Amino acid sequence: MTSLLREIPYNDPLKVAEQKATIDHAIAENKDRPGAVMLVLNEVQGKIGHVSPSMQAYIARKLNVPMGQVHGVVTFYSFFKTRPRGKHTIKFCLGTACYVAGVPQLIEKAKQMLNIELGQTTPDGQITLEECRCVGACSQAPVVVVDEEVQGRLRPNKFPQIIKRVQS
Ligand code: FES
Repeated sequence: MTSLLREIPYNDPLKVAEQKATIDHAIAENKDRPGAVMLVLNEVQGKIGHVSPSMQAYIARKLNVPMGQVHGVVTFYSFFKTRPRGKHTIKFCLGTACYVAGVPQLIEKAKQMLNIELGQTTPDGQITLEECRCVGACSQAPVVVVDEEVQGRLRPNKFPQIIKRVQS
C-alpha cells in the first residue's frame, strides 16, 4: 500500500487539491458510520468518476482497513471504475442476443477507428469504450449505448456515423 501511495501518477485526483479535498471530505463524513468503506467509495466514485488504485490505498489507510477490503469492493461492483472515463462513453452490449447479432464486429470497428481497446479512453479524453450486460432491448440487437442513449439495430457500416457524431 505504501508503494502505491509513493507512485501516484501526476494526474491522479490525490494530486489535485480540489479532488483530494473531495476524498478527504468523504472520509471525514463517513469514517465512523457502519459500512464506511462502501459509503466513501460511493461518494468518491459519484463525485470524481473513478477510484484509482492509489485512491483505494489512501482510503484504506485513512479508514484503517486492509487495502484488500477496499479493492475487493471496487472490483466486485461494476459501478466502480478504476480509471478516469472520457467525456462520452460507448458501451457495447455483450448479452447473447447482441453478441450473436454482431456486437463483436461493432467493437472491432470502434477499436480500429479510435485506436484504443475496450476499457480505454481516447488520448483526448473524449471517448471511452466499454462493454455492458443486456440492457433489456434484445429485440433491437445489436445494441450500443452511447452515453445513456440506447442505439439498436446497428450495422458496422452505420457505426462510423455514430462515432463521428459523438466526436463532434
Ligand atoms: S442482449 Fe443486448 S440488449 Fe439484451
